[in-house]
Amino acid sequence: ETHYWTIDPNNIQQENKKIAEAATLLQAGEVVAFPTETVYGLGADATNSDAVAKIFQAKGRPADNPLIVHVAEKAQIKTYVTEIPQIAEKLIDAFMPGPLTVILKSNQKIASIVTAGLDTIAIRIPDHTVARALIEASGRPLAAPSANTSGKPSPTQAIHVFQDLNQKIAGIVDGGEAGVGVESTVVDCTGELPLILRPGGVTKEEMEAVVGEVLVDQALKQSTEQPKAPGMKYNHYEPDAPLHLIQGDTAFFQAQIDQLISESKKVGVIASEELANELQASHIKQIGTRSDLKTIAKHLYDALRFFNEKEIDIILCETFTDQGVGQAIMNRLQKAATKEIKQ
Ligand code: TXA
Ligand code: MG
Repeated sequence: ETHYWTIDPNNIQQENKKIAEAATLLQAGEVVAFPTETVYGLGADATNSDAVAKIFQAKGRPADNPLIVHVAEKAQIKTYVTEIPQIAEKLIDAFMPGPLTVILKSNQKIASIVTAGLDTIAIRIPDHTVARALIEASGRPLAAPSANTSGKPSPTQAIHVFQDLNQKIAGIVDGGEAGVGVESTVVDCTGELPLILRPGGVTKEEMEAVVGEVLVDQALKQSTEQPKAPGMKYNHYEPDAPLHLIQGDTAFFQAQIDQLISESKKVGVIASEELANELQASHIKQIGTRSDLKTIAKHLYDALRFFNEKEIDIILCETFTDQGVGQAIMNRLQKAATKEIKQ
């Protein structure tokens, strides 16, 4: 049986009892899904190998893909690392709590199943009252990947977690819709310069304003390179129907739709409100406005799940600039897509 709690993140003081129930399950070595500001996480006590093994089991996650350790306060980060270099310190001070994960040298106090045997550890402080209340109430650091079945889009609502993991986990804490909508930025701070391994909620531009030059893993640009974050090499975020990214103007996009319809295909479209307003199509999912990419990020994963229960043969999706949070949006779309079509 999967316990289900609905918690108001804006009234966390009133939700002590539910938080305590979920925390008790975590202390007992069970896995519980909970909201963060990025996406829902699937948490377990990071100091308990058996508990962490249940995360991999429930998600069907490859064992060589390490997990992020979630803590409630900056002071806790020191407990698990050999040192915090100055650049990491600056990033931590500027962006935590928030959608940033730092990779630091591990002092090996966390079970090796969490780090997949690496000598580094990924740590972040979620900017979400429910997540932090749960970490504090359990008194444990929580290992937590996104709370989806491996390969599926990450969950931004509790219903997404329910669809993927009901009956496979001990509990789901429903704290409403995640605000950012894409995962945290993963930045390796073990070298001379910070190196982005996964673009996310904190942008490269925002980090550069704080620490100067920030590098980006070459594997994010050239698929021939082996990514430095193990998880980045796997298929990800895939809707049930094949997804094609369309890069071109409105007329070009419309021509792609019409061609597929002439082949008797049922076409689903994911588009900004600007493009959606101009297209002729029966099944359009709007995901926000081009003038504010944060609205696109927030609705992206819900849109990638939207057509799953519908009779759709193929999904066409607009492409976006790769500036700012657009870098994370395009990274996820390119991983989810089976094809990119350019004008
Ligand atoms: O926003 C987020 O980060 C969400 C919420 C739940 O906190 N979590 C999340 O976890 O996205 P997950 O497991 O889906 O993605 C973690 C990424 C993977 O690509 C993994 O390979 C990478 O971080 N990673 C973890 N530890 C690492 C390490 N020591 N070195 C390099 N990459 C690491
Ligand atoms: Mg994930």
